[in-house]
Amino acid sequence: MINHDRSDRKVILVTGASSGIGKACAVHLAQADYHVYGTTRKSPDRVAKDLPSSQLNMIQMDVRDDLSVHRGIDSIIKEAGRLDVVVNNAGFGITGPIENTSIDEAKDQFETNFFGLLRVCNTVLPIMRNQGSGYIINISSIGGLIGLPFQGLYSASKFAVEGLTEALYKEVRSFGIRVVLIEPGDFFTAFTANRKKTARAETDPAYKNRFEQTLRIIESDEKNGASPEKVARLLVKIIRYSDPRLRYRVGYLPQKIAVTLKKFLPQKLFDQIIMQHYMPG
Ligand SMILES: NC(=O)c1ccc[n+]([C@@H]2O[C@H](COP(=O)([O-])OP(=O)(O)OC[C@H]3O[C@@H](n4cnc5c(N)ncnc54)[C@H](OP(=O)(O)O)[C@@H]3O)[C@@H](O)[C@H]2O)c1
Repeated sequence: MINHDRSDRKVILVTGASSGIGKACAVHLAQADYHVYGTTRKSPDRVAKDLPSSQLNMIQMDVRDDLSVHRGIDSIIKEAGRLDVVVNNAGFGITGPIENTSIDEAKDQFETNFFGLLRVCNTVLPIMRNQGSGYIINISSIGGLIGLPFQGLYSASKFAVEGLTEALYKEVRSFGIRVVLIEPGDFFTAFTANRKKTARAETDPAYKNRFEQTLRIIESDEKNGASPEKVARLLVKIIRYSDPRLRYRVGYLPQKIAVTLKKFLPQKLFDQIIMQHYMPG
């Protein structure tokens, strides 16, 4: 680990910093001279070797494991003495028809995307309360605002993140803690390759063709998605605001507009537009 002796720099933790959005954020923040810790479940030294910034401290953490989360955050406090910003980014997607998604598969999705985030929040909140300051930035998704076909459990996990974060914003404001949601549209990352399919996703004849067609569209949207650098640039702006908004949407304009349309269009019409995109024909 790198030792930083300047005490005026914000200390930042980014979960899931080995790849994609988390990596872009962690590297960008480190290059902007923040004191950054990034997490991976892999060997931190090996991951660090592939990073463009030697100013980034990689630590091992699995957000699905209480002990791992406590150990990781303890090690930061021991070394840096404080924690100013936490970016809850670690996550993955699961795809398949809801009808044949098992409860274990659903729990697997929530264990990382929702309970993992909650675990990290609950561990850092007492630290931030004692400091009288801190930023918790939760990476949600436009899929946390619009229920996406064949990504039902992923959407559900992000809707849950939205609800939790909206409540937390109110609960901890008086302690000087700022809580923010970043809601990305499609971004080109390893998310597509890391997506898990439910066991019966491709075998149920009732859904097979439709599922495969929709998945091709989802993957193509992501492969043509924006660069994660865009989220990193937004994040740097947010942590410089003393009183950021609860929600920031980021991504291609049509995807951001879709969320606005959901508010104003009749629900039936809006759902038709979404279905036409993901399930044409
Ligand atoms: N890409 C998109 O289009 C998009 C859109 C909206 C929202 N998002 C959200 O953005 C976040 C990052 O996704 P990404 O697109 O950057 O995907 P990615 O490239 O697959 O990166 C996922 C990161 O999460 C980490 N991770 C996964 N499970 C973990 C666990 N149990 N504990 C700790 N770390 C874990 C991985 O680290 P290790 O494997 O090294 O542990 C990796 O660094 C996710 O929350 C995702 O839902 C992505």
